[in-house]
Order: sequence, then C-alpha cells, then structure tokens
Amino acid sequence: MKPFRKPRWQISENEVTPEHVFWNRRRVLAAGGGLAAAGALAGVIGGRAPMEPLPAAAAVRPGGPGTAMSPMPALSPKFADAGRAVTDEEINSTYNNFYEFGSHKRISQAAMALDTEGWTVTIDGLVETPFEIGIEDLLAKVDLEERIYRHRCVEAWSMVVPWIGFPLHRLIALAKPLSGAKYLRFATFHDPEVARGQRQHWYPWPYVEGLTMAEAMNDLALLVVGAYGKVLPQPFGAPMRLHLPWKYGFKSIKSIKRITFTDVRPVSFWEELAVREYGFWANVNPAVDHPRWSQARERVLGTDETIPTVLFNGYGAEVAHLYDGLEAEFGDRVWR
Ligand code: MTE
Repeated sequence: MKPFRKPRWQISENEVTPEHVFWNRRRVLAAGGGLAAAGALAGVIGGRAPMEPLPAAAAVRPGGPGTAMSPMPALSPKFADAGRAVTDEEINSTYNNFYEFGSHKRISQAAMALDTEGWTVTIDGLVETPFEIGIEDLLAKVDLEERIYRHRCVEAWSMVVPWIGFPLHRLIALAKPLSGAKYLRFATFHDPEVARGQRQHWYPWPYVEGLTMAEAMNDLALLVVGAYGKVLPQPFGAPMRLHLPWKYGFKSIKSIKRITFTDVRPVSFWEELAVREYGFWANVNPAVDHPRWSQARERVLGTDETIPTVLFNGYGAEVAHLYDGLEAEFGDRVWR
C-alpha cells in the first residue's frame, strides 16, 4: 500500500518478492524448515529464527500504523499454514469494508485520517474493576504472535491474511469478568468529523459486535494489532481489531474502543439494520444461503478463482463444539 512504503533505498524483500512467495516461505520455515534454513534467511525475515520466543515487553510498536513491526513476533506453528496462498497486501489493503469511511470498498485513503496516537480501550460492565488502557500498555502485558488465517466475508469473497495479535482470552484474563458475564460487546469509535461514513445517520453508529463468553474464550478468537509484518494500518482497523476466522467477516470488528462484559446478548450493527440477513451467530455454512445470494462458493481475492466454501470456514475442529444443540434452539440463525 503506497502510503506505507519505505524510501526506495530501504526496500526489503517482501516488497520485491511477490507477496505470496514471501509469506509462504516464512510459513514453510515456521512449519519445520529448520533452524539452519531459518538462519540462512535470518537477514531477510527480520534477523532471527521464526520460532524464537520474545518477551512481551519487547513487542513494542515502534511507529504508527503501517510501520514495520519490530521485533517481528514469532509465527505460530499451529496457524502457519492456511492451506491457501496469502493474499497480496496491495489487494487486501485497497479492498476493504469499513463503513465508518464509506459504504464501498475503496476506503483506504479516507481511513488514513483515523488518528490512533494515544488510543485507549475501555473495559467495563461485569468485571471486577472497570479500566481504560492504552494500546501500548496492553501490548506490554501480552505475547504477540503471527497467525495466518482465512477470512470469509458474508458477501462471498475471501482472503488469507498474516495477522499479528494475541488471543482474546488473554485480555479476558486481564479483565477478570464476574460470574454473571455471559457476553462480550465490542464497540468502535464514533467521530463523524473524521469518519465521514458516520455522517450517514441512518446507520446505527457506533459499529457494534458481540460474542458469547465461550466463543470469546476460544483460542481462535484473535485481537489483531498488525498485519503483513506491520503495525496494523488504518484500513485494516487500526489500532486493534478482532478476527474470528470461523464466522462471516462482519463479526471481526475494527478499531475497537470499548469492550463491555454483559449478561444481555448484544445486538450488532448489522443485526440492527437487517436482522433477517445478518444475525448474532453468523457462522460460515455453505449450505445456508444468505436471503439474497448463495453461500456455497467464494471468490478468492486477487485471483480469478471461485472455490467451495467450507463449514466454519474450515475451523470446525476448533469451534464446532461451541454450537452443539444450538440449531434446535435457533435454527438457521446459527448460520446467519
Ligand atoms: N468493523 C468496522 N468497525 N466497520 C466495518 O464496516 N466491516 C466488517 C469487518 N469489520 C467493518 C468492520 C466486514 S463486513 C468485513 S468483511 C471485514 O471487517 C473486512 O475486513 P478487511 O477490510 O480487513 O478485509
């Protein structure tokens, strides 16, 4: 993405090698390419073996959104291979859903106006002690890792992204929820001065999403602070977003400002707008169509391919148990 490019003289390998070659090589190394091979490429991929553990405090954000994440967190062996090539960053970062900046895909320039300097997140509701924490202070309390995840948008397109983040359950442990907390409600910022999409007053701003406590505790649920080796750029949802790879993409809320623990099931932005089309659960299921289109296949961003969509976007082994018996209660709603 152009605004994040370093000067020419600083060009690094991921900028001269096609993106999927670079990221897929990193993936092979982490999946057992061996330390010798890692050492040979160390200068290329950040000067250390991919699996070398990092103390949490070292995972600082050296600069603003889009600057190199340094040091680069280790690639998780469990999520080193998404089974498909990583989508080119250029494609991913210029085709976004971020309605705060417009109800179309080309919001990347407009989103650059979001100032994330000094950003804080409020943790409140049913917790021992509500608090507000700066992103940098939060990052000093967790270990970052890189995970390559598939992402399936409800609009029937998909991508593969190398995210950097930490499991949501780490933040839940810091929040110390009370026993009555059954759901998490996430909300983004509300600033129509900066985010012109928020002047469209028929949308129920701010963007809100929700999860059950069991979903939020699942190890797959990732709080994301980086992508493609960089501090998370604004179009991706800087400074911190969620990524839930087994659910339709609208559940993966961007630019989080507030996380509230509650005993009431949150009503999400899209659910409030069109309850028949976008619900609370929104688990990927190729057999349950959206009321207006089929969910059987997906267009792979950056290619001419469409491929079959897979139940839970292929993450059923990790999450299917969360929904045992739920269909009897909610029917098709589990899939929308
Ligand atoms: N979060 C906020 N705050 N606003 C949004 O409009 N769109 C969602 C989700 N999170 C959205 C959001 C949708 S529909 C999708 S598919 C993903 O973000 C898109 O993420 P991407 O732009 O990084 O591909």
